[in-house]
Amino acid sequence: MVITLSATVVVGGFFGDEGKGKIISYLALHDKPEIVVRAGVGPNAGHTVIYKGQEYKLRQLPSGFVYEKARLLIGPGVLVNPKILLNEIETTKINPKRVGVDYQCGIIEEGHIERDRKPDLKGRLGTTGSGCGPANADRALRILRIAKEIKDLEPFLTDVPGELHDALDRGEYVLVEGTQGTFLSLFHGTYPYVTSKDVTASAACSDVGIGPKHVRDVIIVFKAYVTRVGAGPLPGELPEEEAKRRGWLEIATVTGRVRRAAPFNFDLARRAVRLNSASMIAVTKLDVVFPETRGVTDFDKLSDEAKEFIEEIEKKVGVPVKIISTGPDLMETIDLR
Ligand code: IMP
Ligand code: MG
Repeated sequence: MVITLSATVVVGGFFGDEGKGKIISYLALHDKPEIVVRAGVGPNAGHTVIYKGQEYKLRQLPSGFVYEKARLLIGPGVLVNPKILLNEIETTKINPKRVGVDYQCGIIEEGHIERDRKPDLKGRLGTTGSGCGPANADRALRILRIAKEIKDLEPFLTDVPGELHDALDRGEYVLVEGTQGTFLSLFHGTYPYVTSKDVTASAACSDVGIGPKHVRDVIIVFKAYVTRVGAGPLPGELPEEEAKRRGWLEIATVTGRVRRAAPFNFDLARRAVRLNSASMIAVTKLDVVFPETRGVTDFDKLSDEAKEFIEEIEKKVGVPVKIISTGPDLMETIDLR
């Protein structure tokens, strides 16, 4: 057997909301993967994609849907809320035949959502209330229902690892979409203020059923500043007024909460690169910190200040910055690969 290094894994480097949706959709359009497969926890994540003037907020479908030839898969490690998935297939107006859900995806039901909204979870930890934690707890107890038992999912059911490995064996390119961020990992994050499983690159591989030997690149996404929603430590946290003044105040995709904000953290970034064995960095929202860079697509045209910031990241973190986002649209991207 020849192992082809044809998978790229994209992960978040801080606390989620680094702009993975934008980066993954850009990569899908640019690199034309045969398959984009969603890893991660489940519908607690909200990936925002702005394409051709339209904004999409995706909680189940891979952000790579914008590349129309890509097959769109959800790996067996990912939780599915069938209502949310079916609704996204409708609102994105994609061909439903492109979508595949693994037989073994765990299913979120009303009871999980109710349990997630109680004070011990939503109150104490600030969870998204989407039912993911209780569903993963039930999975560990082996009482969770899985996709093959759900009638509404029947048209989409497939063997995701099987499809991925068939594509990899043909030498085709596969894009793996991680969710959340490194420091929300159940193992490596700021426990107990974390999500309900590991979310580093190795976990993303496991979620979809590929081993690390198939991975060519691990792209870690950092926003040019750090945000966090829910409870838990955020080093260097700014008062809300100051975050607002800097234009860093964001509203969370899934919950509508105000995100807490702090300046870029080089120590956290270095640790995140290690935990994910990242091979390259994508920096997003450079234009929010350096407004003069908005829409720039050529590295040389960045201001000196912005260039120094990128160089400081490379120097302190030790991995090259290869993709830089200078605006929400997919085309507002510098690609140095
Ligand atoms: P849960 O994942 O809903 O259980 O929430 C646990 C913690 O992870 C809370 O602090 C959430 O705000 C955070 N979290 C989960 N998913 C995301 C995400 O996609 N972006 C940002 N924070 C998230
Ligand atoms: Mg998000």
